[in-house]
Amino acid sequence: MTGRRFTLTHRLPDAHLDDALRADALKGLTGRPKSLPPKWFYDARGSELFERITELPEYYPTRAEHQILAARSAEIAALLPDVRTLVELGSGSSRKTRLLLDAFTATGALERYAPLDVSPAALTEAGEALRHRYPALDVSAVVTDYEADLTPPGRGPYLVAFLGGTLGNLDTADRRAFYASLRPRLTAGRDALLVGVDLVKDPDTLVRAYDDGRGVTAEFNKNVLLVLNRELGADFDPAAFDHRALWNAEHSRIEMWLRSRRAQRVPLPEIDLTVDFEEGEEMRTEISVKFRREALTAELADAGFTVRHWWTDPLSRFALLLTTPT
Ligand code: SAH
Ligand code: AVI
Repeated sequence: MTGRRFTLTHRLPDAHLDDALRADALKGLTGRPKSLPPKWFYDARGSELFERITELPEYYPTRAEHQILAARSAEIAALLPDVRTLVELGSGSSRKTRLLLDAFTATGALERYAPLDVSPAALTEAGEALRHRYPALDVSAVVTDYEADLTPPGRGPYLVAFLGGTLGNLDTADRRAFYASLRPRLTAGRDALLVGVDLVKDPDTLVRAYDDGRGVTAEFNKNVLLVLNRELGADFDPAAFDHRALWNAEHSRIEMWLRSRRAQRVPLPEIDLTVDFEEGEEMRTEISVKFRREALTAELADAGFTVRHWWTDPLSRFALLLTTPT
């Protein structure tokens, strides 16, 4: 039996993602230090590499969040029996989300799952699996950028899920902008926001999670160069860069960088840009903020969200927060 309905909607105008990549590349490659936003990792290969990261022994966040969801999904569904649409931001493979979908379809009023992601490849693959597994559910997948568009498909009450620690890929200002654009879309007393975040812990464990022994994270990091080569006609040689992961204690975040092995000049003809790298020069490709309970609770309160539940895995590595609009 197949699902009631699986739709994949490209929400943004055709050129939007291209235009956004051009603008981000131009700004980031001419800035000091050079940087690129992490959303551009996720073409089909990047999404696939991320899935491989989630299986690495060093990368604990996915397993830790899975443990929490396995323990708490029934409780979450019981707390929110009226939810009609589960919206997920940056849904990727939607694999862990199955725990929530199992719980909500078993007991609640859920009629629609709406995964939102910049990666059409990830949404297509996830959608195929989901429509067979949940024949009674509408699956409305949306290719979009949640930093630009947070309109939820379907009807409320909504549960918006932002799992995996992806909130931490936004810096403080971007998180503030994200909350400000999400909050008016949710109704107090009706909707809820479920967030998974990675927690501060010893730097060694953190750095190893982003610098694995098999080099999968290094490949994931360098994949952004291949995206620029394909989309902007750039001529990056991934072998001319080293992967670096470091703990920035001041900002409570892991940072991923690409370090130029030699002085080099890289043309990006599609944006009329030629970029020079010095030997040893580093370009930042991702931040991954690690949170503390008190600060995150205060940050969310300032943004109009009250933390109702804070669950962790048995080793307190990762937290899942159920919040409601104030
Ligand atoms: N939630 C999944 C996947 C996390 S990987 C998990 O917990 O395993 C991060 C996901 O967010 C990727 O699928 C990526 O394509 C998506 N993503 C990153 N930036 C995005 C943005 N600005 N808008 C929409 N999706 C984004
Ligand atoms: C998607 N995001 C939460 C991951 C993280 O841990 O910040 C992306 C990632 N980057 C390197 N490894 C995984």
